[in-house]
Amino acid sequence: MPRRNKIVLIGAGNIGGELAALAARRELGDVVLFDIPEKVGVAQGKALDLEQNGAVLGYDASITGSSSWDDCAGADVVIITAGVPRKPGMSRDDLLSINLKIMRGVGENLRGRCPGAFVVVVSNPLDAMVYELKKVTGFAREKVVGMAGVLDSARLQLFLARAAGVAVKDVRAMVLGGHGDTMVPVTSYCTVNGIPVTQLMAADKLAAIVERTRNGGGEIVKLMGTSAFYAPAAAAIQMAESYLKDQKRLVPAAAYLEGEYGYKDLYMGVPVVIGAGGVERVVIIQLSAEEKTMLDKSAAAVRELIEASKKL
Ligand SMILES: NC(=O)c1ccc[n+]([C@@H]2O[C@H](COP(=O)([O-])OP(=O)(O)OC[C@H]3O[C@@H](n4cnc5c(N)ncnc54)[C@H](O)[C@@H]3O)[C@@H](O)[C@H]2O)c1
Repeated sequence: MPRRNKIVLIGAGNIGGELAALAARRELGDVVLFDIPEKVGVAQGKALDLEQNGAVLGYDASITGSSSWDDCAGADVVIITAGVPRKPGMSRDDLLSINLKIMRGVGENLRGRCPGAFVVVVSNPLDAMVYELKKVTGFAREKVVGMAGVLDSARLQLFLARAAGVAVKDVRAMVLGGHGDTMVPVTSYCTVNGIPVTQLMAADKLAAIVERTRNGGGEIVKLMGTSAFYAPAAAAIQMAESYLKDQKRLVPAAAYLEGEYGYKDLYMGVPVVIGAGGVERVVIIQLSAEEKTMLDKSAAAVRELIEASKKL
C-alpha cells in the first residue's frame, strides 16, 4: 500500500504558513506545522484554517499544528524556518547568535526522530544555519540542503524580464555563492529562451539589475518590516517536490562541499540536481575569471560566518 508522505515544517510563522498552504494545495503529503509551545495556537490555527481551505479548493491533505517533537517523527521531508527574520537595517548575519541556538535545538530533536528525512533549511544566515544543522544531526550531505539560490535566481529572473520586456517564465538565471551581500549572480548563464541577456541589454543596465538582486531581500524588509515569505516558501517547496517526485531539477542550492569548486567543509550555493537520492550531485560549470573571484570572496565570507558560529 502506498502511504502518504509526511512533511514536517519547523516554524509556523510567515514562511511556515505559506509552506503548509503550498504543500497542501500540491497534495505533496500530510503536513505537521510545528512551533514552540508559546506559538502552538498559531500553528494549530493555521493548520485548521488550511484544512478548511481544502474543503473550498478541493485538495486532500491532513494538516496538524503541534509543539510536540514526537509528532515530527518519521518525516519524509523537513523544512526549517525556525528563528527570527530580519528587521529593517539588519543584515542576515546579525541573526547569527539567536538563530544558531535555535538551530542547535532543532537539530538535536530531529536527529533521532527523522533519520530518513530530506531536510531543507531556510533560516538565516542560511549557509551557517544549514552547516550547523548538518553538524548537529550528523545526517548525510545528500540529505541536508539550504534554500537560497532558487529565490535569489527568481529575483534576478524577474528583474531581467521586466527590463527586457519579456515573460518572466522565458528567463533563466542562476545565482551562486553565499546567501548574503557577496552572492554571485552568474550573468554569463542568464538567458531568455537561450539568448544570452548580454545581447538584449546594455552592460550598465545589467549591472544595476545584479545590484538590485543582491539587495532583493533587504528591499522587501525595508518595505514591510519583515522578510519575504511567498517566494521563499515557493522556492523551498520546489526543492522538496523535486525530492519527493524524483524530478531531478537542476537548481542552485546551498550544498555541503567536499572539494567541488575548490572548497571544502563549507555550505554554499552551487548548481545541484535534486532527486530521490536528495542532492544527487553537484554540477560543475565553467565560470569566468571574474565570476570565480567573486565566488572565492563569497566562500570566504561564508567561512568567516561558520568560524564565528563555532565560537558561539
Ligand atoms: N533562505 C532564504 O532565502 C530566506 C528568505 C526569507 C527568510 N528567510 C529566513 O527564514 C526564517 C523565518 O522567516 P519567517 O518570515 O517565517 O519568520 P517568522 O518570525 O514569521 O517565523 C519564524 C517562526 O519560527 C518559530 N520558532 C522560533 N524558535 C523555534 C524553535 N525552536 N522551534 C520551532 N519554531 C521556532 C517562531 O515562533 C516563529 O513562529 C528567518 O530566519 C528569515 O530570515 C530565509
